[in-house]
Amino acid sequence: MANPSLLILAGDGIGPEVMAEVKRIIGWFGEKRGVTFDVSEDLVGGAAYDAHGKPLADETMAKAQEVDAVLLGAVGGPKYDVLDFSVKPERGLLRLRKEMDLYANLRPAQCFDALADFSSLKREIVAGLDIMIVRELTSGVYFGEPRGIFPDNEGGRFGVNTQRYTTEEIRRVARSAFELARRRNNRVCSMEKANVMESGILWREEVQWVHDNEYPDVELSHMYADNGAMQLVRWPRQFDVIVTDNLFGDILSDCAAMLTGSLGMLPSASLGAPMANGRPKALYEPVHGSAPDIAGQGKANPIACILSFAMALRYSFDMGEEATRLEKAVETVLADGVRTADLMGPEGGTPVSTSGMGDAVLAALD
Ligand code: NAI
Ligand code: MG
Repeated sequence: MANPSLLILAGDGIGPEVMAEVKRIIGWFGEKRGVTFDVSEDLVGGAAYDAHGKPLADETMAKAQEVDAVLLGAVGGPKYDVLDFSVKPERGLLRLRKEMDLYANLRPAQCFDALADFSSLKREIVAGLDIMIVRELTSGVYFGEPRGIFPDNEGGRFGVNTQRYTTEEIRRVARSAFELARRRNNRVCSMEKANVMESGILWREEVQWVHDNEYPDVELSHMYADNGAMQLVRWPRQFDVIVTDNLFGDILSDCAAMLTGSLGMLPSASLGAPMANGRPKALYEPVHGSAPDIAGQGKANPIACILSFAMALRYSFDMGEEATRLEKAVETVLADGVRTADLMGPEGGTPVSTSGMGDAVLAALD
């Protein structure tokens, strides 16, 4: 069988720096575990614009559609602020998400024990936390028509956005959540505002339909999203998989992420429909951006990008065991007190560099 294929788009700023550590880890898996990938590399964002005047070349887009998974670093930077909106680095990433139709955005919120004191919540509330928020990514109020700012009859203006979801849009993201739940702890909590929004009523009915007809073995509960926000900070460990729409998911996933500490730790995945080989279309990327303030200084924490690769191992390549091996290595390194600058508490200490963190993870893998 052909090796699984991986397209690496390192991008801008700290993107190439954190990706360099992932490439070493990919090398380790090939050498030590006999797990090899067909890896290709290309440009995205400002790097692509500098090379050929577009934030994502058509050939790169075509390649992304063919591979089993895309791994992206970060895009953007102050140098590109002057560019026209149509060629801004972010447009490269948006094009990937849109044309690959990546409708399920997976944002884990996992608390590593060694970092529990970094949370804005008490250790006893976040220790052991491991939840997954599935956010619908391609529809809802960010895309619905009509939208715009219009003049009213009294000489003022009004703004309009439309929350619109179809049955199929809800069902497909619900399926992603139930599939995930089966690989985890078999529990899904769906969040909307069915009490005040018709689109919320439909959301609740359709998620329930998918459950009853296709995933009756998974435990399903429903919660109003505002209560969900309260519960996330009150007692986050009550949740396992949360599925919600684009707007609520944007807010709830950022909120959940901060329960666990630094931006430099947070991975993500965006999944689409299954391809001919059964694997979902997939893009993996750290949540953070290109961090221009620390780019080029070897200070960036590569863990978010490393954990994004671990998600690729699990969700695209069905290598859950290898994914766990990598996550355990990260956990060991953190438990040993290895810290990049973003993970230093007020007590201080000496931070390791980006490659120093990569060295430590490789050593822990060995
Ligand atoms: P950012 O995530 O790049 O940085 C925010 C803060 O977190 C900075 O102080 C940065 O140094 C720190 N930080 C981020 N990642 C880190 C890491 N791995 N290790 C240590 N510290 C880290 O967000 P910001 O500053 O709002 O945006 C900077 C640029 O990145 C902009 O051009 C923005 O458009 C772009 N961006 C790109 C994203 C992407 O590629 N998915 C997402 C967010 C922003
Ligand atoms: Mg957000």
